[in-house]
Amino acid sequence: MIQSRRLSRIPVYLFSQIAELKRQLRQEGVDIIDLGIGDPDRPTPRHIIEALKEAVEDPQTHRYDESGFGDLELRRAFCEWFEKRFGVRLDPERNIQVLIGSKEGLAHLIWTYVEPGDVVLVPDPAYPVYRNNTLLAGGEPYYMPLLKENKFLPDLSAIPEKVAKKAKLLFLNYPNNPTAAVADLDFFREVVEFAHKYEILVAHDAAYSEVTFDGYVAPSLLQVEGAFDVVVEFHTLSKTFNMTGWRLGFAVGNEQAIKDLSKLKSHVDSSVFLAIQRAGIAAYCGPWEPVKETMEAYRRRRDVLVEGLQRLGCPVEKPKGTFYVWIPVPEGETSESFSEKLLRKAGVLTIPGTGYGKHGEGFVRASLTLLDPNPEARLQEAVERMERAGVRW
Ligand SMILES: Cc1ncc(COP(=O)(O)O)c(C=O)c1O
Repeated sequence: MIQSRRLSRIPVYLFSQIAELKRQLRQEGVDIIDLGIGDPDRPTPRHIIEALKEAVEDPQTHRYDESGFGDLELRRAFCEWFEKRFGVRLDPERNIQVLIGSKEGLAHLIWTYVEPGDVVLVPDPAYPVYRNNTLLAGGEPYYMPLLKENKFLPDLSAIPEKVAKKAKLLFLNYPNNPTAAVADLDFFREVVEFAHKYEILVAHDAAYSEVTFDGYVAPSLLQVEGAFDVVVEFHTLSKTFNMTGWRLGFAVGNEQAIKDLSKLKSHVDSSVFLAIQRAGIAAYCGPWEPVKETMEAYRRRRDVLVEGLQRLGCPVEKPKGTFYVWIPVPEGETSESFSEKLLRKAGVLTIPGTGYGKHGEGFVRASLTLLDPNPEARLQEAVERMERAGVRW
């Protein structure tokens, strides 16, 4: 069997490679502290689980979802929350599409718009889905470096006019995976102006909009005046409510883009199990205390890890958003060599920054989500193991 040329343009999914490495090391008896994949370890809040149980008992939920855009009650619940949270009004009939998680929607947006040879502006480093679906669709990613000196924001003025004119889509993601950086409304205004000037559709991945700390509140790109002309924003229940396995998310924003995405989806999937969509209503209608508790738990873990690294001399600051820490590697190391050293000498699994693009060089990413009865103690142990292994900055 011969893979399509399209598929052979992209590598094996990053986390599939890492899962294989983990399996091997565990077989060798290594006790791994796994700071690899970002996958919430705390349970989905109880009221959401109860809502699912009830919905699953209703045979109406066992059928195809024929709504096209997703359950209307769920769309209404999300739009109401969105207005309270961001002060932005979405029309549940026009500005929102339910997704099988945001990964699905991000990929399908590319398939909706990208023709062979089209330019797509992709941050580097970034969640690999933007780049790899662009390649699958025959598009040409143009990488926008996310550099520490620019606070991990792309420099739009550095994009050559010729490239900007050819670009069809621009991907952004704040709070950002993997750098944990955040963006403010001034930057978002610049983005909307740029998108208007060059007639580019902006896809803002807001997966971590609710994963924030120390009083920081992440804005929506749709808060900017004129954003509805040029923006689709992606939201998900995965990180906010510890629901990665449930697969539920939303695309919101520009009416035509929502319609086009919906048309594509109607040919390739049949929506999300209706019982899960009903449980999603319970999520957005509250209570929100469990979300606050989860964020407080991540905040404590962040402090343990970052303060521990700082004691070892690492020039890393406490991030305001996401459950990642973007750790600069010590002098003389590369992302790969340092990640391997941490794994082999300390049994601590991190992801080399280069897994997210070449400008991830010089960093490794540590996730604060880890399956352990006492994650804070485990993170403390990770730092102690690094110290014992002679890791210093
Ligand atoms: C930046 C970013 N976007 C999207 C996703 C995917 O989320 P979902 O579970 O909604 O597909 C992830 C998951 O790790 C992510 O890090």
